[in-house]
Amino acid sequence: MILLAIETSCDETSIAVLERKREQFILRSHFLASQISTHAKYGGVVPEVAARMHVEVITPGLNAAIKQAKLSLKDIDAVAVTAGPGLITSLLISIEAARTLAWSLKKPLVAVNHLEGHLYANWLPNDKNHQSTIQKNPFPALGLIVSGGHTELVLMTKHGKYKKLGQTRDDAAGEAFDKVAKLMGLGYPGGPILSKLATKGDPESYNWPRPMLNSQNLDFSFAGLKTAVRYYLDTHKVTKKQLPDLAASFEQAVVDVLIHKTLRALKQHKVKTLLLAGGVAANTKLRHELGKAVSKRHPQVNYLQPNLKYCTDNAAMIAAAGYWHAKKKNFTPWQKLDADPNWELA
Ligand code: KG4
Ligand code: ZN
Repeated sequence: MILLAIETSCDETSIAVLERKREQFILRSHFLASQISTHAKYGGVVPEVAARMHVEVITPGLNAAIKQAKLSLKDIDAVAVTAGPGLITSLLISIEAARTLAWSLKKPLVAVNHLEGHLYANWLPNDKNHQSTIQKNPFPALGLIVSGGHTELVLMTKHGKYKKLGQTRDDAAGEAFDKVAKLMGLGYPGGPILSKLATKGDPESYNWPRPMLNSQNLDFSFAGLKTAVRYYLDTHKVTKKQLPDLAASFEQAVVDVLIHKTLRALKQHKVKTLLLAGGVAANTKLRHELGKAVSKRHPQVNYLQPNLKYCTDNAAMIAAAGYWHAKKKNFTPWQKLDADPNWELA
């Protein structure tokens, strides 16, 4: 089966061609155009600007992806598209492109949840041979989804079946990174910039609050942590020399909470696999410390983290998630496909 996938839920225009051959995924092509440098000028994503830029890039991107895959459009078996959650103005661009392709090529259409896509980034091919094998039965699996808009722990009992165990009550982890980076004057998007600066700092230099660390549920809260940093910056004179310590200690607080709650979920639910997912999965400290904690406390759990290339938004992960829906013939008629900016995974 060959899938063409389109993702434009925020500020990346991405198109991928993924082939499923026996037990393997083969990534035939992957086009990704980031709008980051444009939005950086405004300190965040401007939805109208994002939509306009998606419109400009989507057709050349589609042509490039098909050419790189050495295929023609008629070789595609199904079209997968992110239908939500995301920015409505951005989502509509790939939705319309996918509807048009499905109608004109007479191919089935698969609506993919963006968060589901992030989870499936764990089964994408590595760089070396562009091929990956999915374990026969990785379920039940626990997913820690940490992105700019979401922070959730989900239980996955089979392909396409999710149960939400906990979520953030306010800011998402990536949002906290972005907002604190902005307060520190570091620019946009803050996560990668802040975590790079953190490598030069002492994670124990400041003792920031770890919100909800000891609450018995699997929920998160990051707004208080962000406010604590804001209050500190408002009331103290912080020199440029102190910024790496501030970054490192903030990052440590976020990572501590994420690991603590994930371990609690692993204790409550006997799973075979742990899937790290979402843009914040690119964070080196989180990857390393979560891996260490899981191998120490739950050595029987197979811990997966996506290739760095597929942590942030991309269409390859949408194709991987879409494959399982296509296999079950879980299609949406093109007339009925619509964007759902608040689509819940479970
Ligand atoms: O998944 P994603 O690309 O978009 C959403 O679906 O939201 O995630 C973007 C988020 C941003 O908040 C960004 O700052 C964060 O992921 N991020 C990171 C890192 N790389 C990206 N946060 C911390 N450390 C990183 N290395
Ligand atoms: Zn995302």
